[in-house]
Amino acid sequence: MINYEEYFADRVKPMKGSAIREMFKRMADPEIISLAGGNPASELFPADELSKIAGKILMTSPTVALQYGTTDGYPKMKDCAIARAKEAGAYNEGDGVLIMTGANQGIDLTAKAIINKGDKIIVESPSFIGSLNAFRTYECELVGVDVEADGMDISKLEEALKANPDAKLLYTIPTFQNPTGTTMSLKKRKKVLELASEYDLLIMEDNPYGDLRFAGADLPTLKSLDTEGRVVYCGSFSKILSPGMRLGYVIGPPKLLEKVEMLKQVNDVHTPMLTQMMCVQFMKKYDINKYIAKNRKLYKEKCDTMISAMEEYFPKGKVEWTVPEGGIFLWCTCPTITDVSVVVNKALEKKVAIVPGSNFAIDQSLPSNKFRLNFSSASKSDITEAIKRLGEVLTEIL
Ligand SMILES: Cc1ncc(COP(=O)(O)O)c(C=O)c1O
Repeated sequence: MINYEEYFADRVKPMKGSAIREMFKRMADPEIISLAGGNPASELFPADELSKIAGKILMTSPTVALQYGTTDGYPKMKDCAIARAKEAGAYNEGDGVLIMTGANQGIDLTAKAIINKGDKIIVESPSFIGSLNAFRTYECELVGVDVEADGMDISKLEEALKANPDAKLLYTIPTFQNPTGTTMSLKKRKKVLELASEYDLLIMEDNPYGDLRFAGADLPTLKSLDTEGRVVYCGSFSKILSPGMRLGYVIGPPKLLEKVEMLKQVNDVHTPMLTQMMCVQFMKKYDINKYIAKNRKLYKEKCDTMISAMEEYFPKGKVEWTVPEGGIFLWCTCPTITDVSVVVNKALEKKVAIVPGSNFAIDQSLPSNKFRLNFSSASKSDITEAIKRLGEVLTEIL
């Protein structure tokens, strides 16, 4: 038999399977309550509306919906992306826009256009595994900067930049970060831009959760504060409409996006026309902000349910957690232990799935005393039940 390991390219050799994906395999068990994934609440999907819209598109415009499209995106879909980005202050006249097959593709291909082997990329530590894995395939060096309750630790960022003055790119999820649920303060946003200017860094701002605020006041995006054209902005319809439609976008300098577009042409030619057209019609016929408002309300209720259950069932004084003002995650720390894997495994025996912090680390081989909880996907009663079971595990172990 052929040993495929010998044939693999160097860039994929260090890649490890994601524990989240492994968890998904085990979640075929219908009894498992998952607080592990990053799924939005499927109970709110506008399935009836989208089914009527899809039917009408296929009846009236099949030759457009089923035909090849242009790589940069269906023009009316680009207008929808611009409309969303304008709400976030993330679009300026003259910016380029590309429709991507999910923000994931935008992050990956923008990275591909920028990163050479050996380049240094500054990332939040912990950060979104999808982006870290994309960067890893370009054989760069990831330089992690700790995340605090109000975003990146600026003194650690300064240290990292002093030690790596040639760093090329800074990747950040400033609002309702994945996995910590934290949001970067305005002061820190301004400081990050100042440092980026000083060290001549590009910034990739990943903002799939920005619309999902349920507490506190909105903050300007880095893109809206940028006066030097340093910020490339990645947006997504996954958490405000449907992740299965795979609709994301990148907004930034046309010179850079020209290259990203060429990479997309090689990668998947274009994002499916049908889902682009469905999104356009949905935004034309309905007020997407009303739909988003329903999500925000539900996520607040679910987040409050989770935190009340944690207060009731987690062992007192043994677990710390972040209190998010939006998004879909919160982040727990168990200061008295060094490795949560035993907690994760015992929770799974009790049919509760959570993700250990090591998954989101720059060095995934190190143990972590943290874990991520998702509150958007499970029902409120399942959230309470799962936290109760997790509380039993934590009480036994801590
Ligand atoms: C921080 C972050 N960026 C990007 C994505 C990718 O989103 P999309 O579904 O648009 O590819 C996710 C998905 O969970 C995410 O958490």
